[in-house]
Amino acid sequence: MTLMNTLRVHRKSVAADGVVALELAAPDGGRLTDWTPGSHLDLVLPGGLTRQYSLCGDRWDPRRYRLGILREPGGRGGSARVHDELAVGDEVGVGGPRNNFPLVPSPEYLFVAGGIGITPLLPMVQQAELLGARWRLLYGGRNRAAMAFLDELGAYGEHVEVRPQDEHGLLDLAGFLGEPRPGVKIYACGPAPLLGAIERVCAAWPPRTLRTERFAVDDSAAPARATPFEVELARTGVRVTVPVGTSVLDAVAGAGVEVLSSCRQGTCGTCETTVLAGRPEHRDAILEDHERAAADCMFVCVSRSLSDRLVLDL
Ligand code: FES
Repeated sequence: MTLMNTLRVHRKSVAADGVVALELAAPDGGRLTDWTPGSHLDLVLPGGLTRQYSLCGDRWDPRRYRLGILREPGGRGGSARVHDELAVGDEVGVGGPRNNFPLVPSPEYLFVAGGIGITPLLPMVQQAELLGARWRLLYGGRNRAAMAFLDELGAYGEHVEVRPQDEHGLLDLAGFLGEPRPGVKIYACGPAPLLGAIERVCAAWPPRTLRTERFAVDDSAAPARATPFEVELARTGVRVTVPVGTSVLDAVAGAGVEVLSSCRQGTCGTCETTVLAGRPEHRDAILEDHERAAADCMFVCVSRSLSDRLVLDL
């Protein structure tokens, strides 16, 4: 179950090889819901597919949202529909904005983008610049032609290091970040190997320095429990058994309780649910380690239970 508004495609342009920039506006040209850097939209595409895309436009323009969308050859068809079917004037369903990757206050920021991972970071560098924070961006990609929004980033001069792989090889993360030190926030978005590499480099930095945004959940590990567990819905006292292979989201829906959802992959944050008792097994791509340890919320589309019973605020 999702909650959607309708917006209209105002402009569609090529931002790089394989990347389109899509500008959305209200059908009446009116003001859009405010958002903050790091936010994304749920886009309902022709055919009913829902996909999440980072807002990458001017955070202070109240009448336009901009998305940068990479055509993913191995994807599930969502990006291809944007590239091939969506046209200026078309109406699309939109959920959000929602922010799982917020920019927290800091005197200094280091941003690392790989490929289309530049999109959530564009509004962040705009904000860091406006606030007068110290900041630098390291931006990698296959080659310059495939790297979106280079023209806009050119305005920031030496703050931005553009490092296409065909010219420079792999990103020198340790060299860019420098010595571990307090008072810095590092924001990274890009493919999983890049984020894995930056996590290894940042292991020596103070806790909670690094924030990452992932495009997909790493679900290579099997769930910790190989047996069903019970979910108690605190508002009614109803108890639901969650079988192996069934999500909590679907199990509670079977009991007549609909939780708002969108991606059903643990990446968008829509289905966040408060945990009142029990130990969830977090399988999302959103929470940071200290948030997982708190065990007070979970994303019921993918996360499961370590304990025999969870009590949820549903
Ligand atoms: S529906 Fe997107 S995180 Fe659960």
